[in-house]
Amino acid sequence: MNKDKLIRTFDKQAKTYEKRRRIRSERKWRERLLSSARGNVLEVGVGAGANFHYYPQGAKVTGVDFSEEMLKKAQEAAIEEGIEAQFILSDVESFSFEDNSFDTVISTLSLCGYENPTKVLNSFNKWCKPDGKILLLEHGKSSNTIIGYIQTMLNPLNRRFVGCELNRDMLRILENSNIHIERMEHYMTGMVHLVWAKPNKDTLIH
Ligand SMILES: C[S@@+](CC[C@H](N)C(=O)[O-])C[C@H]1O[C@@H](n2cnc3c(N)ncnc32)[C@H](O)[C@@H]1O
Repeated sequence: MNKDKLIRTFDKQAKTYEKRRRIRSERKWRERLLSSARGNVLEVGVGAGANFHYYPQGAKVTGVDFSEEMLKKAQEAAIEEGIEAQFILSDVESFSFEDNSFDTVISTLSLCGYENPTKVLNSFNKWCKPDGKILLLEHGKSSNTIIGYIQTMLNPLNRRFVGCELNRDMLRILENSNIHIERMEHYMTGMVHLVWAKPNKDTLIH
């Protein structure tokens, strides 16, 4: 799918993502992961601001998303939750920050959408300060063969109507990136991963 079409697909879902934010979808995982966030936070694929409720006090958020409709919802969410936030309307895959800009880099449910998720993780590695954290909540292909097969069958439809891949090998993507994983937790037959990572500045690839 070309990028303009993909952006329209996400634009159309902004209201749904707002509803999901309000019903605190994925609450248990978001709460667990985001309690580790601190300082200057970069959140990529910020969507409708589903994470804002969980940020510790004092977090200053820069949210990036290529969907204008999502960012409008995220702006409302930041006001409601009293979060200091600024937003950048851009494709994460073509945007760049200065190296070592953020204390925490966060992606929740966004690596499933990028053309090259490993490259995006390597950007996190650069943008995160050496003593910072990279926090991820991502989904991918189940380790259960039957569920994985069903995900692969449903993938073309999901890509078209939801905008993301259902059957990515998320562990392989993480392994192939430069980030240094400190801790991982896996849920729902290996479909959902919580990741606490650090940047690995020894393997910096520009
Ligand atoms: C599945 S939603 C997740 C939203 C939010 N992170 C959450 O946890 O609810 C993926 C988000 O990433 C955004 N996105 C996908 N690909 C992107 C890209 N290449 N650049 C910027 N944003 C992107 C979409 O617009 C959407 O808001």
